Amino acid sequence: MRKVVLAYSGGLDTSVAIKWLKDKGYEVVAYMADVGQEKTTTAAIERAKKAGAAKVVVRDLKKKFATDYIWPALKAGAIYEGRYTMATALSRPIIAAEQVAVAHEEKATAVAHGCTGKGNDQVRFEVTVQALDASLEIFAPVREWEFKSREDEIRYAEKHHIPIDVSKKSPFSIDKNIWGVSVEAGVLEDPNTEPPTESFQWTQGAEKRNPKERVIEIGFEKGIPVSVDGKKMDALKLIAYLNDLGAEYGIGRMDMIENRLVGIKSRETYEAPAATILLQAHKDLESLVLDRELLHYKEGISQKYAELVYYGLWFTPLRTSLDAFVETTQKTVTGSVRVKLRKYSSHVVGRKSPYSLYNESLATYSAKDKFDQKLAKGFIDLWALPYRNRAK
Ligand code: ARG
Repeated sequence: MRKVVLAYSGGLDTSVAIKWLKDKGYEVVAYMADVGQEKTTTAAIERAKKAGAAKVVVRDLKKKFATDYIWPALKAGAIYEGRYTMATALSRPIIAAEQVAVAHEEKATAVAHGCTGKGNDQVRFEVTVQALDASLEIFAPVREWEFKSREDEIRYAEKHHIPIDVSKKSPFSIDKNIWGVSVEAGVLEDPNTEPPTESFQWTQGAEKRNPKERVIEIGFEKGIPVSVDGKKMDALKLIAYLNDLGAEYGIGRMDMIENRLVGIKSRETYEAPAATILLQAHKDLESLVLDRELLHYKEGISQKYAELVYYGLWFTPLRTSLDAFVETTQKTVTGSVRVKLRKYSSHVVGRKSPYSLYNESLATYSAKDKFDQKLAKGFIDLWALPYRNRAK
């Protein structure tokens, strides 16, 4: 019998998808990737089996996600449309890549996902699969089946004894992992409606809290955060620590209208406390240790890198080439950054590095000044030469 590996979330769609794929004549392996979404529970595994999966495979990808996907994006300074720190977008390529590996192990000829036909995630999944193994067939049941509504789908599930998650269904569509939470749909579909308190996941209740301002110090080595307040932490611990701490302050909330790859504008809110603090601190340290031309050039790279991640082009030669460039720039991004946390915001209040290019004797306006101001005239005269010439 032909086999398909389905990226299974535990929700209604992918549970119904198991039955749909079986009806197509496939044996279904339900694959659950753990990227910190807190959904790979025993209940979900049981649900997959009851829905008809021949086998359930769970993979803990959290560590690899942090070191091989999140850290490169941090070093690149990748933020989509100036705000989205891309928790969802970064997670898709690793989930899909592992899905291909599972398909190979299981000798499956096909893979399937539960994305709709309107979003970015279908693109990210399918481009990754095609880039890694062009021979695999790809199914997207949710894009094809004919349920008109969620109620329709539930009726179908009940009729075929497909178990449904009994926990209360949120009115929002939520995607969560260690790098952040993405929330859309429900009342958020009106772009002019303020996100209600219940729509927030990690920072819920921040409106009512008044945490004390505090300064934390983040240590970086070659562009990677390695410590907080002098305490060494591995990637997962550091991210979790800053998420918890930042969430108390409501830091990292974003409410934006974004441009999807498929041409639709959508409204989404995000919560990404650790990502917000770390991207801010990292960028600040770069401004201390990178020379002007490199720093400016890298800004363009950051934007390109963000687009590429958002567009699902992780497994492409452009991404590996950009990574090589970025890696070179990070050799001196070592040092520490002091970040002040206050309600809803964080900002940098100090930075230091053994590779600092800041030279006080050049910058100072005091008696210690070593900058030869007389040189400035010749410099400006040459700089202005073309325009002086033109003006004449
Ligand atoms: N708009 C984000 C992206 O394209 C998140 C998509 C998933 N969001 C969700 N709430 N389920 O990466």
